[in-house]
Amino acid sequence: MLIDFHAHILPGCDHGSDSLETSMNQLRMAKEAGITTVVATPHFYMYHDTVDSFINRREHSYRMLIDATESVDLGMNIVKAAEVTLYIDLPSLEDLNRLCIEGTNCMLLELPGYRWSVWTAESLSQIIQGRNIIPVIAHIDRYDAHTVRRLIELKIPLQLNASALIPFSRRSKYMRMIREGAVHLLGSDAHNTADEYKDFARAVKILGSQMDAMNRNAGILLDGESIFEKAHISWEHNVSL
Ligand SMILES: [Fe+2]
Repeated sequence: MLIDFHAHILPGCDHGSDSLETSMNQLRMAKEAGITTVVATPHFYMYHDTVDSFINRREHSYRMLIDATESVDLGMNIVKAAEVTLYIDLPSLEDLNRLCIEGTNCMLLELPGYRWSVWTAESLSQIIQGRNIIPVIAHIDRYDAHTVRRLIELKIPLQLNASALIPFSRRSKYMRMIREGAVHLLGSDAHNTADEYKDFARAVKILGSQMDAMNRNAGILLDGESIFEKAHISWEHNVSL
């Protein structure tokens, strides 16, 4: 009953899957890893797309995949969402809230270039306060220590890619951050080959009981509830990065 909070598994919706066959293979691998819910997060870039065309493309792709999964009784819950790249003017994008995970006010965001900019804090605070959106920052393992520290200071939920727990050299750092409540959600960030789901399965074993906490956090967010009140989060930590 695991939740994959970040995955590119919708056929033809972005570069994550080039065909229905690829998507079905990804979902079979996800199932083998014990996942029963995949949050489908195709990329959204505001300078290359409109919200309308993105939603239409995603709906078409989602329908195709749902029909295929039902015909083989795969038993996978797929939740429509997006991985939205943050830009300075993203907070003023009309219809921005339609890019939240469906049924919630939570949005998966990535920072352009995976780095902090002079406008990042202001932009995030406009999204939180001005648009009433709970941002989750994707693949925190791609950011430098300064950026991670700033995000923690802003008390923003953070998502780790499962593959970051595989190399022994990086594992203890992320395990410590998870234990201290500084990293909150796990995702595969699966693209094409679905090898990421082998890493996900290995990460689940490495995480042990910490996986329960991360899974619970994901469930709270998908239920549209406030992670700040219920989740396994401690904002009072001193994380050494
Ligand atoms: Fe991604």
